[in-house]
Amino acid sequence: MKLPKILAFANQKGGAGKSTGAAHAAEWLSKQGHSVTLVDADGQQSSSVWLKEIGLPYQVISDPETLFEALPKLSDEFDIVIVDGPGSLSEVTKAILARCDLVLVPSRDSIIDLRSTGKILQFIRHAKELRGGMPKAAIFLNAVSKGSVLLREAQEALGDSLVPLMETVIYDRQCIKDAPGQGSTVFGMRGKPAKDAAANYEALFDEAVRFFNGK
Ligand SMILES: Nc1ncnc2c1ncn2[C@@H]1O[C@H](COP(=O)(O)OP(=O)(O)O)[C@@H](O)[C@H]1O
Ligand SMILES: [Mg+2]
Repeated sequence: MKLPKILAFANQKGGAGKSTGAAHAAEWLSKQGHSVTLVDADGQQSSSVWLKEIGLPYQVISDPETLFEALPKLSDEFDIVIVDGPGSLSEVTKAILARCDLVLVPSRDSIIDLRSTGKILQFIRHAKELRGGMPKAAIFLNAVSKGSVLLREAQEALGDSLVPLMETVIYDRQCIKDAPGQGSTVFGMRGKPAKDAAANYEALFDEAVRFFNGK
C-alpha cells in the first residue's frame, strides 16, 4: 500500500495529542525501514526535542512561507515527512494543509474537545476545495479512558463524510505520558503496557494507511 509522502498532525487545541502522535508515527515508520524526518511547526518545539533524544532527523520550521517551500523539498529527500502542527489556527496551519497528503486530527474524547475541532475541520474543508479533494483527512480520539461510552456520541457529533472519525482510538496510558521523559516512544520501551500501547498505535497507523489508500 502507498504511504503518504507528507503526513501531518493538526488541531489548534493544545494537549490533543499532535506531538505524541507525530513522534510515534516517525518512530513506527523508521522502524519499518523508511527514511523519515519530522518537521516541528509548533513554536513550543516539544516534538523536535523528543526526536533529538530518539535520534531521528527533524527540523524546526515555524515560518509559513518557509514551511510551504521546504515541505516538497524534504519529501524529495526523505521517504516520509511527518509534520507536527501548531497549537493555533494560522498561516502555518494553512501551509501544512496546502502541502500534506494526509492529515490526522487527534481529539480528546470530551464533547468540548470534539466541538473545538470544528474550526480545524473548516480549514481542512477549504484546503480540500482548493486542492481537488486533498489532503485526505481523518479524526482520531486520543487518550480515551477504558470504558468510555463516548465513541458513538462522537461519531454522531462529528458525522462528517469529508473528515471521518477513525475506528481505532488511542487509549490513555501512563507509558505514553512517560515516553518523552525516557527519550523514547512506546515502540522503544519495555514491558507489557508499552507493548499494548505500541500495538494500539500500530493499529491506528495501519488504519490511517488503509484509509489513505481508499480501503
Ligand atoms: N494516549 C495518551 N495517553 C496518555 N497521555 C497522553 C496520550 N496522548 C497524549 N498524552 C499526553 O498529553 C499531553 C499533551 O499531548 P501532546 O501530544 O503534547 O499534545 P499537543 O501536541 O496536541 O499539544 C502530553 O503530556 C502527552 O504525554
Ligand atoms: Mg505539540
